[in-house]
Amino acid sequence: MPKLTAKEREMLLQSARDAVSHAYAPYSGFKVGAAILTQDGKVFTGCNVENASYGLTICAERSAIFSAVASSPGGKLALRAVVVVNEKQVPCPPCGACRQVIAEFGAETIVLFKAEHDYQELAIADLLPSSFRLKQG
Ligand code: THU
Repeated sequence: MPKLTAKEREMLLQSARDAVSHAYAPYSGFKVGAAILTQDGKVFTGCNVENASYGLTICAERSAIFSAVASSPGGKLALRAVVVVNEKQVPCPPCGACRQVIAEFGAETIVLFKAEHDYQELAIADLLPSSFRLKQG
């Protein structure tokens, strides 16, 4: 599986940590930050944004990805990596919804997240086998 270089890893972890301070999480108190690296070397960040109507909450990973799409001409986005961190430094692998969104923009995306011990780097295909793809016949 493709891996992040030590330099990419540090740069993305720092960007994700910076994004944590932007999180709006008054309900859970769990602030999350994400940084994504595109195939053409651009970095975008995102944070979780909660709502009084809890189900409207968006995770940090999706907020970063949607922000990247919003600044990509033609909505074109090819992901190389997604890095997610949280303020409490507890394990935080991406949720199922975020995995599906990550898979949409790159079947080989590398995902780096805080696991039980240290950070873990996995391919999205290992985190979400058989992701949904729309095939219209
Ligand atoms: N959350 C994320 O932003 N990313 C994850 O990978 C897991 C959960 C957020 C959603 C919610 O605002 C808070 O964490 C608690 O679930």
